Amino acid sequence: MAFGLSRRTAQLRPSATAEISNVVKRMKRQGISDVVSLDVGEPCFDTPPNIKWAAWEALQAGKTAYEPTAGDYELRDEICQKLKRDNAITVDVDDIIVTPGAKFAIYLAFQAVLEKGDRVMLLDPAWVSYEPIAKIAGADAVRVPTFEADGFQPDLAAVEEAMDDSVKIVVVNSPCNPTGAVYDEVTIRTIVELAKGHETLVLSDEIYEYLIYEGRHYSPASEFDNVITVNGFSKTYAMTGWRLGYVTAPKEILKGMLKIYQHSVTCVTAFAQAGAIEALRSEESQQAVKRMVEGYKERRAVMLELIQQSEFFDLSVEPQGAFYCFPSYRLKKPSVEFAKELLEEVHVATVPGAAFGECGEGHLRLSYATSVENIVEAFERIESYLRKKA
Ligand SMILES: Cc1ncc(COP(=O)(O)O)c(C=O)c1O
Repeated sequence: MAFGLSRRTAQLRPSATAEISNVVKRMKRQGISDVVSLDVGEPCFDTPPNIKWAAWEALQAGKTAYEPTAGDYELRDEICQKLKRDNAITVDVDDIIVTPGAKFAIYLAFQAVLEKGDRVMLLDPAWVSYEPIAKIAGADAVRVPTFEADGFQPDLAAVEEAMDDSVKIVVVNSPCNPTGAVYDEVTIRTIVELAKGHETLVLSDEIYEYLIYEGRHYSPASEFDNVITVNGFSKTYAMTGWRLGYVTAPKEILKGMLKIYQHSVTCVTAFAQAGAIEALRSEESQQAVKRMVEGYKERRAVMLELIQQSEFFDLSVEPQGAFYCFPSYRLKKPSVEFAKELLEEVHVATVPGAAFGECGEGHLRLSYATSVENIVEAFERIESYLRKKA
């Protein structure tokens, strides 16, 4: 008996980043213990202890039942206050949905809005999951290239040219994964205005909002009503495994998202939401975030210095945010092949730039969310291996 997959599922490619991290885990299980991971898209810090305690206490106090699908009221209230304070976005608790990670918020938004034949505009290179999530919703992607020479900033003329009535959502991800580019206010505003002219939504993925070393974060929902704002706790508070994100959007879109959510996941783990309340509410958490950002700053400086000294990597514009460097390399080989070779030969895990789109080819994404020792060790291994081969 043959069991077939739907065409929609069969055409999906696995997530390149998840695949690499699975290979690394498999290697470690096989006893290869010296793998250095520069592929990870998650903080190298543990969740701050006060946040863990808050969830623990909630668990002990019996916060173990279903929550409202849109999330605990207290948590949504904290999110509203945060959005007002940090993003100049004024909404109330009914305008918020708490989701199991920002990724699921994006999934819900795409499911709620997109039809077959619709398109989602992405600035290439783009995070690996936007296009597959669009495809799961039956839609497709239109990619507008961005280039290293421009600091991977959007070309507004190209965005305008690619905009047509089939584009239902434009994704803006600043700070950007994988490039680390932070888009300025004028750039984001122009994109949102262009979208508005076509009655198109903008999905602003602000997951790296606090991880900015140069430049300033801007949330377009502070001024525009055609914006879906997605954020979460994974990166800022080192809570990737907790699965906590949130979204605010025009009311009719939220209503649709909520229905899909009610019939699929029901709600985020109840006691985990108590941890999220503590993350937003307590001064201790904000201090912990400051220390983590300082930690990334230090690691970023180390990686930038090593790239500058490298005989094989180039980076003409420094990343301003997130925790990735996206250097090009001087070898003539596809990035998938290069990343595989580095993993097999010197046990250094990286993400091939091609995983993020055509404009990522010739680059590797190197995460500096790891120890300084690991960063130094990885570069020593790569440089000496490539030097020997040259
Ligand atoms: C740009 C971007 N958006 C969204 C996500 C999803 O984050 P979460 O863990 O909240 O689902 C990630 C995670 O890697 C990301 O890099």
